[in-house]
Amino acid sequence: MKTKHVVDLTDLTHEELLSVIRLANRIRENPEAYAQACRGKILATLFYEPSTRTQMSFQTAMLRLGGRIIGFDNPQNSSVAKGESLKDTVTVVGGYADIIAIRHPSEGTAAAASMYSAAPIINAGDGGHLHPTQTLTDVVTLYNEMGTLENLTIGLCGDLKNGRTVHSLIKTMSTFKGNRFVLISTPELTIPQYIKDIIIASECSFTQVRSLAQAIPELDVLYMTRIQRERFGSEEEYQKQNGVFVLDKAKLKNAKKTMRILHPLPRVDEIDVEVDYDERAKYFEQTVYGMYGRMALIMTMLEKSDRTPAPRLRSTHPFSCSNPRCITQSEKYLPALFREAGGDMLLCRYCDSRTLI
Ligand code: CP
Repeated sequence: MKTKHVVDLTDLTHEELLSVIRLANRIRENPEAYAQACRGKILATLFYEPSTRTQMSFQTAMLRLGGRIIGFDNPQNSSVAKGESLKDTVTVVGGYADIIAIRHPSEGTAAAASMYSAAPIINAGDGGHLHPTQTLTDVVTLYNEMGTLENLTIGLCGDLKNGRTVHSLIKTMSTFKGNRFVLISTPELTIPQYIKDIIIASECSFTQVRSLAQAIPELDVLYMTRIQRERFGSEEEYQKQNGVFVLDKAKLKNAKKTMRILHPLPRVDEIDVEVDYDERAKYFEQTVYGMYGRMALIMTMLEKSDRTPAPRLRSTHPFSCSNPRCITQSEKYLPALFREAGGDMLLCRYCDSRTLI
């Protein structure tokens, strides 16, 4: 694999991604053959935010490969509670571990961590920004359940604004030709503009609708998501959005028999539990596909044991990112890094937000 770190799944080329998916399938078919594949290697899981699946599937993946694990799932039990910076934490842990999976509430954290860690960094979710290994989970599921990653009509429903799994999935599926995204949300929770721009620049297309019931008959895949309570400014704003979209048996009557229902989980109440017994529901199988996907990713990333820290970067512009959720807001030593986005617009290289200059 050419990339050392995986901040976004599009850091992998198509060929590399397909190779990881096929390796995941080979491991799933014959796990004993890989039981010592990472013997002597250590994975660190640095989780600054709660998790069930991502943290445990990373840990299980490494243990099933014969490796070992270290880390924290509550930063208050680490020296973060004493004020240690992200830079210092990943510099130190990058000296202990062979590979690091990091989750953090601030957008752009994995990109920032990759600048200081000698060990490869995997983004295990950075605020409302990206979640590439959930997308790996999703594409392993689609590859096996749909038999293709192209020419699919994919409905994404719920919190498209704050749902990092949605952003990552669209970014990756836009690189496969002929996919059509049906974006189902309230006007308050629509997809960020930069994600729309990515679809527009691709060989894919999208429509934005407000009714799940009306959209469902045309879908090959329905990707349900939770309203991300923790990203709202107030409980009142959250309550206005909660319960707007609920998938139940009645709505499924009009769906294709071949449609597949995915959800990154955790579920709150956006899928009725009765749906769990419908053969189109694949969200629990999805979690198992994800473990094999992570096993394949860890193995592939560790094949290249480059432990050289990245060269020091200097600020590209004399501005700060305007996104209040960007990691640069709390970790003030980070250089200001932007890409030109045309006109007076800059894109933050940590969180992808637009800043007007
Ligand atoms: N899908 C997902 O990221 O789940 P967790 O938050 O439980 O890790």
